[in-house]
Amino acid sequence: MYDAVLHRCLLLCVSLMLPSRLQGEVTSHQYVKGILGERFTIQCNISLQPGESVMQVRWLDVQNKTLLSYIMNEHKTETEGRVFVNLSRPDASAITFSSLSVKDDGCHRCAFDVYPSGLQEGKTCITVIAEVKPGSNKTVVSGKSTDLQCSYGVVKHVQQVLWRKITPGSKADVASYSKMDKGSVKDLFKDRFTISHGLQETRISISPVKPEDDACFSCEFNTYPYGTKKGVTCLTVYVLPKPQLDYRSLGPGIIGANCSAVGKPAPEISWNVETDNRTFNVSHSSKDRADGTTLVISTLFVQASLLDEKSVKCIVHHRGLESPIGVTLNTKIGTALTILITVTAVAALLVLCLCICLWRCFLRKDDGNDNKKQQFNRKIRECSG
Ligand SMILES: *[C@@H]1O[C@H](CO)[C@@H](O)[C@H](O)[C@H]1NC(C)=O
Ligand SMILES: *[C@@H]1O[C@H](CO)[C@@H](O)[C@H](O)[C@H]1NC(C)=O
Ligand SMILES: *[C@@H]1O[C@H](CO)[C@@H](O)[C@H](O)[C@H]1NC(C)=O
Ligand SMILES: *[C@@H]1O[C@H](CO)[C@@H](O)[C@H](O)[C@H]1NC(C)=O
Ligand SMILES: *[C@@H]1O[C@H](CO)[C@@H](O)[C@H](O)[C@H]1NC(C)=O
Ligand SMILES: *[C@@H]1O[C@H](CO)[C@@H](O)[C@H](O)[C@H]1NC(C)=O
Ligand SMILES: *[C@@H]1O[C@H](CO)[C@@H](O)[C@H](O)[C@H]1NC(C)=O
Repeated sequence: MYDAVLHRCLLLCVSLMLPSRLQGEVTSHQYVKGILGERFTIQCNISLQPGESVMQVRWLDVQNKTLLSYIMNEHKTETEGRVFVNLSRPDASAITFSSLSVKDDGCHRCAFDVYPSGLQEGKTCITVIAEVKPGSNKTVVSGKSTDLQCSYGVVKHVQQVLWRKITPGSKADVASYSKMDKGSVKDLFKDRFTISHGLQETRISISPVKPEDDACFSCEFNTYPYGTKKGVTCLTVYVLPKPQLDYRSLGPGIIGANCSAVGKPAPEISWNVETDNRTFNVSHSSKDRADGTTLVISTLFVQASLLDEKSVKCIVHHRGLESPIGVTLNTKIGTALTILITVTAVAALLVLCLCICLWRCFLRKDDGNDNKKQQFNRKIRECSG
């Protein structure tokens, strides 16, 4: 116990005797972490002895280049673009980076020129860490290709990037890239997925996209020594409907028409019966299928007589379509078309008959004329001869 007290006493005596105690002393945080792209301030404080004053302050960056310097008395500042100084206190110097960049990673020094004792220095080392920036969510039609993207600002910390598919209750590894393995895709995804070669910006490309790819994907940057940084980006896959329409008689005078369409998300089916108030009703059914698509069937019960007069249309709406698809149960148009074709055919036949008649008549006349002419010529020749 005596030893400890003695030790402390000695230390105190020694430190009091040291000339450095008579000079200003700079204090600064040795190691700080800052986030890429964000505003960040570092500060050095100086404790001055009576009679001392600060003449000039300089800040040196990682490469020992002057970042900023100012003279105390003049309150004049020099600012390097995105760095400025807060002059609110004469015994401290705080510089603020308006947006921290990768090149700020490292040790910065503050140098106080103190009168009369001379230069006093402090040091602060900044570790720039980043947050994962996931690319925008994508929506794509099944069968087309697409890619998903993520980036991480401080590439020198990244050891590996890993993409995983997030399914309810689990995560499946999809693909990874590191300096060692040069990119590998898991067997389950091998035939349609590729991964870009890069640790700062990473991209998985999918071609062709299938309905089961509809999911969120996490991009994970394994950084050393700061652990795993994650981002999430999502893919929505559309399956466009190809509607089918058929109908059959359900009894005397009643017809049931089925309009069916498979899509993802589920298509919506409506009917358009040319403004008519005659009784008809509609029943809907839908069924989810294993691949994530939905089969929707809409059945229209309608009086058969209606179909002879009105056009009945099944209309399929889907988010992935620019405009709805309409399929006509074209009985009415069919009748009109049949009549049109029949009338045209009959007319054409009549015209043909007329042509043949006329041709025959004229040919006969012409033949007669020719004979008469020939006879006349022959007579003239006989006369002159
Ligand atoms: C400098 O002084 C200010 C105010 O007294 C204090 O908040 C800050 O933590 C000090 N900085 C260092 C590096 O000591
Ligand atoms: C900057 O200067 C310090 C001290 O003078 C020195 O230790 C360091 O190696 C220098 N750094 C560079 C990048 O020149
Ligand atoms: C300068 O520092 C003072 C105290 O440390 C603070 O109140 C003030 O907001 C700072 N000004 C700017 C522009 O950062
Ligand atoms: C992407 O989609 C997911 C899930 O739908 C959502 O939570 C997230 O906010 C979306 N991200 C963007 C950038 O829109
Ligand atoms: C319509 O679809 C339903 C359900 O699949 C089926 O039971 C019915 O026989 C179909 N009707 C017609 C007219 O095709
Ligand atoms: C249908 O409309 C016509 C005229 O618009 C009307 O005379 C007739 O009563 C209506 N029928 C029914 C069942 O509402
Ligand atoms: C719709 O019409 C069919 C056939 O006429 C009939 O079986 C069914 O009960 C009707 N449904 C409704 C809701 O009226």
